[in-house]
Amino acid sequence: MSAITFQNVTKTYDAGGRTLHALKGVSFDIPQGEFFGLLGPNGAGKTTLISILAGLSRASGGQALVHGHDVRRDYQAARRALGVVPQELVFDPFFSVRETLRIQSGYFGVRRNDDWIDELLDNLGLLDKADANMRQLSGGMKRRVLVAQALVHKPPVIVLDEPTAGVDVELRQTLWHFIARLNREGHTVLLTTHYLEEAEALCHRIGMLKQGELVALERTSTLLASTAHTMLRFKTDDALPLVLAARARITGRVVQIAAHDATEVEQLLAELRQAQCRIEDLEIGRADLEDVFLAIMQGQGSASARSPVTAEVPA
Ligand SMILES: Nc1ncnc2c1ncn2[C@@H]1O[C@H](COP(=O)(O)OP(=O)(O)OP(=O)(O)O)[C@@H](O)[C@H]1O
Ligand SMILES: [Mg+2]
Repeated sequence: MSAITFQNVTKTYDAGGRTLHALKGVSFDIPQGEFFGLLGPNGAGKTTLISILAGLSRASGGQALVHGHDVRRDYQAARRALGVVPQELVFDPFFSVRETLRIQSGYFGVRRNDDWIDELLDNLGLLDKADANMRQLSGGMKRRVLVAQALVHKPPVIVLDEPTAGVDVELRQTLWHFIARLNREGHTVLLTTHYLEEAEALCHRIGMLKQGELVALERTSTLLASTAHTMLRFKTDDALPLVLAARARITGRVVQIAAHDATEVEQLLAELRQAQCRIEDLEIGRADLEDVFLAIMQGQGSASARSPVTAEVPA
């Protein structure tokens, strides 16, 4: 039995008389114990899909299952198997952190949960804030409480919708350490993030959504191997020749250009020299998940889960 199943899930919204197709028939399975990454640009439909799974939003068509329980027909059982960390910060400002977690335990009918609540507080760096009111917490601390709240009933399936947005480096490491431990102990994890290095490091498999369609579904290692390309990275204050600028990824002064092989690297460097472009901190490395992601998102096609698009970094 799969931990999570999506079968031809569609979702339409009425956007001022116009129909917005937020999900256009998404199907995939996440086996138990997998650490799965759901990636996609803003508005791709990730939160919509998670809201349907959590029973917060109704699919217009298709079916979502958690441990075999239909999220509509068998809501209680599906919800109990699921711990969801929502993208939006929502909480009751009048309760303390510990009260919030106790109330959530009660909601799931879990009694005498203080040992696990203490372990959660400890693992999420919240012990010293246990008695603080929610409104006294910083944004990053509130997000930690959301994570603790999602885990309070030890759900076998953990869904994290951008859990590290606005979270500092140290907590991100603590959080991933903890979530990775839970995953090793058998919990299934579904993660959405815009930090692709997190997805690359943590996820066994990755699905990519683009405008409501699943355009890639692969093992992370396969996605990375699908691009045998080399990336040339350097800094410059000079304008690049137009042909190079058109195929480069530019972040401030940092420029990255994909090359097929060493000969092409030499050609690129020669073109830069000819254009009298002064470059610093030159590095030559392998393409990463971000390169694969951009290549897939810039690609025209979309494909079903059975014939996923393999990444081709434009070079
Ligand atoms: N309640 C709603 N009413 C109308 N349209 C909505 C609603 N919720 C989401 N949408 C639209 O559905 C599409 C998918 O949104 P969704 O929040 O699922 O994207 P996302 O992939 O989670 O993006 P992000 O990375 O920004 O969180 C967007 O076009 C969005 O504007
Ligand atoms: Mg979202």
